[in-house]
Amino acid sequence: MMHNAIPDYVQHKGLIQWVSTIAEKTRPERVVWCDGSQQEYERLCQEMVDSGTLKRLNSAKRPNSYLAWSDPSDVARVEDRTFICTDRQEDAGPTNNWTDPQEMRQTLAGLFEGCMQGRTMYVIPFSMGPLGSPIAHIGVEISDSPYVVVNMRMMTRMGRAVYDVLGSNGEYVPCVHSVGHPLKAGQKDISWPCNPTKYIVHFPKTREIWSFGSGYGGNALLGKKCFALRIASAMGRKEAQSGSTGWLAEHMLILGVQAPWGKKYHVAAAFPSACGKTNFAMLIPPQGLDQGGWKITTIGDDIAWIKPDAEGRLRAINPENGYFGVAPGTNEKTNYNCMASLKENVIFTNVALTDDGDVWWEGMGTPPAHCLDWQGRDWTPQIAASEGRKAAHPNARFTVASIQNPVIDAEWDNPQGVAIDAFIFGGRRSTTVPLVTEARNWEEGVYMAATMGSETTAAAAGQQGVVRRDPFAMLPFCGYNMAEYFSHWLELGDKLGRQGVKLPKIFCVNWFRTDDQGRFVWPGFGENARVLKWMLQRIEGKAQGEEHVFGITPRYEDIDWTGLPFSQDQFLRITAIDPKSWQDEFGLHAELFEKLQHGLPQTLLKTKSVLESRLEQRLAA
Ligand code: OXD
Ligand code: MN
Repeated sequence: MMHNAIPDYVQHKGLIQWVSTIAEKTRPERVVWCDGSQQEYERLCQEMVDSGTLKRLNSAKRPNSYLAWSDPSDVARVEDRTFICTDRQEDAGPTNNWTDPQEMRQTLAGLFEGCMQGRTMYVIPFSMGPLGSPIAHIGVEISDSPYVVVNMRMMTRMGRAVYDVLGSNGEYVPCVHSVGHPLKAGQKDISWPCNPTKYIVHFPKTREIWSFGSGYGGNALLGKKCFALRIASAMGRKEAQSGSTGWLAEHMLILGVQAPWGKKYHVAAAFPSACGKTNFAMLIPPQGLDQGGWKITTIGDDIAWIKPDAEGRLRAINPENGYFGVAPGTNEKTNYNCMASLKENVIFTNVALTDDGDVWWEGMGTPPAHCLDWQGRDWTPQIAASEGRKAAHPNARFTVASIQNPVIDAEWDNPQGVAIDAFIFGGRRSTTVPLVTEARNWEEGVYMAATMGSETTAAAAGQQGVVRRDPFAMLPFCGYNMAEYFSHWLELGDKLGRQGVKLPKIFCVNWFRTDDQGRFVWPGFGENARVLKWMLQRIEGKAQGEEHVFGITPRYEDIDWTGLPFSQDQFLRITAIDPKSWQDEFGLHAELFEKLQHGLPQTLLKTKSVLESRLEQRLAA
């Protein structure tokens, strides 16, 4: 095996030792210590162009941008192959796949043995969060995928400076990744190596991540879902158990809102995968609303790490450095700022390639007369019409650095984070759940978030469009027992409340109610700013609402409709509370609580019975 020299700025003996242990086991042809430089990025992209993994896009249309097509079997996160390995099964909880750590280590030992033969092993140092921020943490990913290296460079603060923070004995989360496709001497590589056997494994106690068999997204870019959500959520909880308040790792975008009354707010919002978090984080408020007096800026589009500061205020950072967003459906109308972010320096995955060397996806605009679909096959609008074949995979993605976002928030990189004024939770529900509801207090908000349901999307492998409970949009991402996660939220609110801290308000939204023809009734996108306006006015005590069974919702006249023709009738369609559907809904909450009964906080059961008796009173009235 060839080692390139360990750079002299790597002073961490434990890390050097770990890298050599992994190299001995996986037996790569060479080891490369990544420095995160632009040259390194360009060299790796060129190598991948030469090997067929990437296509360079037309530099006049899409400068410095590339397209990757994955193996058709490796297109999404694999939730059924994702494991939380705690000593006791109940610590992983009933919503996670669990295997005994010893047993899993044996399985992994077998899988990783020699798995990098014929390949280069990259050592990728990264910081989740601004380097040196008190909220940030460091990870080091070992991977045999150059695609992972170049994506990690955009998605995290990756490179040499991480070693300055790490010093000679700093803490880091060790992440090991292999595509699981070793090459025998002389064997030719393929453009997207992967393995039908996949394992995405987390050991929360030792904070390790092991990922085998997939080169795609959240399965392979281990800073994102594996570290910043699963491992970090367990870290934040563990700190609370050792006496401090602890912290939160959440599947939330963070945005800044400048209100026309001169105040700036920060909102964190949780939605399940592929439910428009990137759109919400970059939204452009309608010009008609207070004569263009609203401005929204992005701090993050997917993940928030939230810690109380010395005064107990919850402050959030975006641990990521870029966006790995869903391309289909994105266009200048649905997300102008996103399209502007994608003009150059982008890596696209599984979108279509046009004849002039640019990209296209469903919902981007006029379809090209001909292109190559994400599997390299000819595609025309006629083929689409006759075979129903899509040009881009529904979970096709772009990877782009945050700084390309024209509405990036001035504070997005602030190591201290931003103070959160409100939390929003939203699922994708074609029925039942109204446009917006304000929780009357923290407990009720936690109840709403805990019982959230959502129709599944293409972000994960499996059936789409079925409603499943997705508490806090964290179902696939919570690194410990979900019931205990609810307790963590309740205890955090309780502790801060007792310190006299004013907690953020909690709202629940649903942009996705449909009419009898299955069409969305609410226009969404920029118009969501109207809902945001009502929320912020509520925070200031300046807006009315109507109290009902579940909380407080605006009446038609409480929303500013300037410039949007939206009738009272339409409003009713997306806000009406149908008692019968809510009885069914409570049945589903009961099922969830049954499943999570071990360690389920009593507060949630109490809240449920209060809400249910309110519903009964209403039915009786
Ligand atoms: C994502 C996801 O990629 O949630 O952000 O799947
Ligand atoms: Mn996500």
